[in-house]
Amino acid sequence: MVHEFAGRAAIVTGAASGIGLATASLLMERGMAVALFDRDKDALEERLAAFLQAGNTAIAVSGDAADPDDVRNLVRRTTGAFGRLDVAIANAGIDTVGLVHELSDEDWARGLAVNVTGVFLLAKHGIPRMIEAGGGSFIAVASAAGLKALAGNAAYAAAKHAVVGLVKTMAVDYAAYGLRSNAVCPGFVETEMVQRYLASAPRGERERRLSKIAAGRFARPDEVAAAIAHLASREASYVNGAALMVDGGAYAGYLPPAYRASP
Ligand code: NAI
Repeated sequence: MVHEFAGRAAIVTGAASGIGLATASLLMERGMAVALFDRDKDALEERLAAFLQAGNTAIAVSGDAADPDDVRNLVRRTTGAFGRLDVAIANAGIDTVGLVHELSDEDWARGLAVNVTGVFLLAKHGIPRMIEAGGGSFIAVASAAGLKALAGNAAYAAAKHAVVGLVKTMAVDYAAYGLRSNAVCPGFVETEMVQRYLASAPRGERERRLSKIAAGRFARPDEVAAAIAHLASREASYVNGAALMVDGGAYAGYLPPAYRASP
């Protein structure tokens, strides 16, 4: 058992499912005390019970990542329980599918509120506590759609581009405090979000997406969690302002199999 995070404390938003759940689990496995945050109170309580039963140090706080009071409460509860905050992972996010002219004003606003303001709020309330703890690591789960277009997902791509810009600027602003800020940019990951998306997409969408991925498959949540844990670790002490692709080579520019070189 590796205890590289012993004595340190983290917040993971969107921790009841998918990438957030895998990340919280991996950090705890490595000795971190973790505050799990999610709007899905029932799922959150179920996760907490399982983590505590396995001997981990954790608390659960339910709320909306886009609500300033809920996020303030999250940070207060975390430092109250663990006495410090070293790592903040802004992972909670929603997909907002639709061409610009089809999007309702409400969907546009909600997409930006959760995906961008949610990251801002965790940074705003978490960073002073992280600086008190001597610095630390802020990580936002952006997306490959934070660096390039995602057809049919304008609000989502706009929000994720904003997240990358926010994190890069925080990297510059807080470096002198020993606080690193990075973004992780996954491609398609096998989570409930992607299952929902594929269920509503035209037939053949899964195959169409897979044909663009050099790895030939979507990511598992634990593969994204491993990248996040690296950025949270002291081994990443010189990684600041990065937008780390975790996409199986999709963004590198994959050619269809007809052009594949013989091994
Ligand atoms: P998921 O839908 O499996 O899990 C998201 C979790 O966040 C859920 O437990 C949900 O209840 C919670 N959540 C959503 N909105 C919230 C809010 N306003 N306040 C508090 N909790 C909230 O999704 P997944 O795939 O694990 O996504 C996590 C992050 O990764 C998101 O930011 C997403 O945009 C990003 N991402 C996901 C990719 C994928 O292919 N699954 C690809 C690239 C980025």
